Amino acid sequence: MRIVETIADLRAALAPHRGTRSLGLVPTMGAFHAGHVSLIRASRAENDATVVSLFVNPSQFAAGEDLDRYPRDPERDASVAAEAGADLLFAPPAAEMYPEGFQTWVDVEGLSRGLEGDARPGHFRGVATVCLKLFTVVRPDRTYFGRKDAQQAAVIERLVCDLALELELRILPTVRDADGLALSSRNAYLAPDERAAALALPRALAAGLEAHEDGSDPVEVAAAVLAGERGIATDYVDTLAVDGLTVLAAAIRVGTTRLIDNVVLEGDTP
Ligand code: PAJ
Repeated sequence: MRIVETIADLRAALAPHRGTRSLGLVPTMGAFHAGHVSLIRASRAENDATVVSLFVNPSQFAAGEDLDRYPRDPERDASVAAEAGADLLFAPPAAEMYPEGFQTWVDVEGLSRGLEGDARPGHFRGVATVCLKLFTVVRPDRTYFGRKDAQQAAVIERLVCDLALELELRILPTVRDADGLALSSRNAYLAPDERAAALALPRALAAGLEAHEDGSDPVEVAAAVLAGERGIATDYVDTLAVDGLTVLAAAIRVGTTRLIDNVVLEGDTP
């Protein structure tokens, strides 16, 4: 696996692939876990070559969020990406993605509001902009996202459709720890007692799914489970459409850590 840091080097490295070999792109912010690895492996299986981008995108962090302390381990990430089958790791410095004078932003208006968008102003504008730039630079045939970040996947789905981007968006299932907690780079922030309290999130979503199957209101039931749990605060519980599915999504805060998760209520999952 080659590591490149500039757009010029990335373009040069990809030139031999153009037109003949299919290309997969997995956008990430690093601190790799098995969720990231599942995306890289899927891309490896479905394409001739795979580019993984590793960029902790400052524009998607609101003021006061965890940009400075976001977990970073570039050496470990490089070996995990190589092991999972990446051919190229694109790890640009901020000035490469946001050069002096940068002022062009993409706003997927409606879908960026509500849920995560309300809790994190400007978040999806940052996500959509950096992803469109990555799509433009890499020009992948397929790009891989996790359903774990359901609203993000919905925003990217809309972006690809609205701007008629010539790429296939693949949205893959959430990878979880054995105890049910969805893998997240931010789980590293959790103290043992906080991690135990965080398990209320998958438990509440499972209760919501069960309620939905019994004809009750999943949002009400999941919110009640979360409200009955000490040591956590609920940001929201709501339903969301993405990738032909309806998901029940929730965000909680455990201490200073914010966690999101969702379960599929309706639709055929791969
Ligand atoms: P990051 O949080 O590093 O996630 C990269 C990709 O991994 C996203 O598509 C995310 O949905 C997926 N992912 C995270 N946890 C997962 C899990 N437990 N199971 C399956 N997939 C999982 O999301 C971002 O980075 C950024 O917003 C980015 C899209 C790179 C733009 O900066």
